[in-house]
Amino acid sequence: MSGRENAKAGESAILRPGNAVEEEEPDPFLGLGSRGGRPKARPPKVMRRHRRILLFLEKISVSFDGFKAVDNLTLYIKQGELRCVIGPNGAGKTTIMDIITGKTRPDSGSAWFTQDVNLLASDEVAIVRAGIGRKFQKPSVFEALTVFQNLELALAGPKGVWRTFRARLGGREREFVEEILERIALADERGRQAGSLSHGQKQWLEIGMLLMQRPKLLLLDEPVAGMTPAEIDRTIKLLRDLEGRHSIMVVEHDMEFIRAIAHETVTVLHQGSVLAEGSMDFIQRHPAVIEAYLGEPLC
Ligand SMILES: Nc1ncnc2c1ncn2[C@@H]1O[C@H](COP(=O)(O)OP(=O)(O)O)[C@@H](O)[C@H]1O
Ligand SMILES: [Mg+2]
Repeated sequence: MSGRENAKAGESAILRPGNAVEEEEPDPFLGLGSRGGRPKARPPKVMRRHRRILLFLEKISVSFDGFKAVDNLTLYIKQGELRCVIGPNGAGKTTIMDIITGKTRPDSGSAWFTQDVNLLASDEVAIVRAGIGRKFQKPSVFEALTVFQNLELALAGPKGVWRTFRARLGGREREFVEEILERIALADERGRQAGSLSHGQKQWLEIGMLLMQRPKLLLLDEPVAGMTPAEIDRTIKLLRDLEGRHSIMVVEHDMEFIRAIAHETVTVLHQGSVLAEGSMDFIQRHPAVIEAYLGEPLC
């Protein structure tokens, strides 16, 4: 555990990575376990005790061809929290999102979303249905459809595409699309083909498509990469607006952006592990963090 710290006292001290399960008697069904046993049938005790934990990742490791991309990682996200995750290239940020969404299975550890969903025993579709929405680095919208149609389609979700185009939206659904259009600053572009939007607008549209599913947790992987400064400013506004409505995990390289949105906990990843966790001020002055960023201070 050397080099890992948590700056917060009080409630988050209880939630400090690593100390939660150690005080409990060993649970034979915890995660996949080092013996690769069957997935855990009950949520971990720490989750039953702290009901505000929405996402629970504990002692997660995964290797690719012998290379440890994620190494004994523990991370808890509370309901309504906006968590920023930063770290050098290759630190394992995207791999963690792959594990949360069921795209990659870890070699060991446990992962729960609320007390009801064992992520390691759920497939990708079930994880989306449970309320986890993920935005990849590259925007993937339906370019030939209009902005409005893209949102309409996202609203359909499991009901299917054809039903959406046969049936007109009901009043409530239409209102919801309008609300999201305003939120993602695309109300004036509703009739435009998505393919003609700017890079930033496509990113917002994709976030809007996720919002149509009313996710409990949003995973955003480098949402401002390739954006203009004005687009970044608008994305900061969008995230502030979303905060509290959804729990959000944002992975980003752009430190200006992180500074603008992070007023709770920032997690610094390095070589697949949590190097430091705490307020932005705390991690900016953290010697191990500065060293991991090749000697460059983060400010
Ligand atoms: N599916 C995969 N197969 C092999 N190696 C992978 C795979 N996914 C990620 N990696 C490796 O794991 C490390 C962490 O990658 P990644 O999670 O993408 O880092 P980050 O998003 O922090 O830049 C990298 O060295 C990457 O090459
Ligand atoms: Mg990445």
